[in-house]
Amino acid sequence: MKVMGIESSCDETGVGIVEWNDDGTTTLLADEVASSVDEQARYGGVVPEVASRAHLEAIVPTMRRAREAAGVDRPDAIAVTIGPGLAGALLVGVAAAKAYVAAWDVPLYAVNHLGGHVAVDTLEHGPMTPCVALLVSGGHTHLLHVDELSKPIRELGTTVDDAAGEAFDKVARLLGLGYPGGPVIDRLARDGDPHAIEFPRGMTGPRDAPYDFSFSGLKTAVARYVESCERAGRQVPVADVAASFQEAVADVLTRKAMRAIDETGVDTLVLGGGATANSRIRSLAQERCDAAGVTLRVPKPRLCTDNGVMIATYGAHLIAGGAQPSDLTVSTDPGLPV
Ligand code: KG4
Ligand code: ZN
Repeated sequence: MKVMGIESSCDETGVGIVEWNDDGTTTLLADEVASSVDEQARYGGVVPEVASRAHLEAIVPTMRRAREAAGVDRPDAIAVTIGPGLAGALLVGVAAAKAYVAAWDVPLYAVNHLGGHVAVDTLEHGPMTPCVALLVSGGHTHLLHVDELSKPIRELGTTVDDAAGEAFDKVARLLGLGYPGGPVIDRLARDGDPHAIEFPRGMTGPRDAPYDFSFSGLKTAVARYVESCERAGRQVPVADVAASFQEAVADVLTRKAMRAIDETGVDTLVLGGGATANSRIRSLAQERCDAAGVTLRVPKPRLCTDNGVMIATYGAHLIAGGAQPSDLTVSTDPGLPV
């Protein structure tokens, strides 16, 4: 069974094709992504209308490239992201999927983007075992409890304000570092002291929801610190600010993930989303997993960012698990829960 996945929830137009293997894994046949990130950089962030237009231009050529790369004229099924994500962006992928489904007479499967971030790890690291997944990107911050990929996934917590990647982008902007901010902060932090400034760890008090996150207070604390330097006529120690901010984010994310591991009783942590490229999030997750005897699974960076392969892989798991095809009237849901 060859499954095509279509992803257009944010600023990447992704089309992937995988072959389902009966052992609970998939083989990658094609992975084509067109990104509008360079265009978005001009605006300092993702502008929804710019993203929709870029998807509209890219979707058919990306689809063609994926079919050529895989040597697949017509897949056996199409899986498409219906949410969560940007409303206008999602519509482009879903409309394209419906057009191809109608032309090829193959089944359509409506897929949740978040499950795709977890499922994609099976391409490199084999069948998924019960796990906690920590998803961090510019658009989402989620802690999930996954029993089986073909069964409903349980959300343990999410952000109550900014996504973790968004916090990196906002802090980079107030330090005058450009967009996207994560990679620059990661680089600068290497020369800084992560304990130079004690920035707040949001929602870690005894009365806070144990698995929810908040990053807006941290962002404000960084802004106040920068202002205080400027008022005092001191140069902002950019590397120390970057390292201390990054440490605060990595600490909260991994601390809550380890608590979730402990309370759910699973023995595996999966990371996903573009911000898991962050070197400190990775190293702290590794340290804490090693200390607790937990297996850490992290897909390679290209598969952590949004792509069509993750949707194809998740779709294949759902189909193999007996999911029913979606009706051609299926719509998008920008706020789709997991
Ligand atoms: O998954 P992704 O490509 O797109 C979505 O947001 O869905 O993730 C992009 C986000 C941006 O916010 C970017 O700043 C962040 O991931 N990011 C990083 C790093 N690389 C990308 N954040 C921290 N450290 C990094 N090395
Ligand atoms: Zn994503």
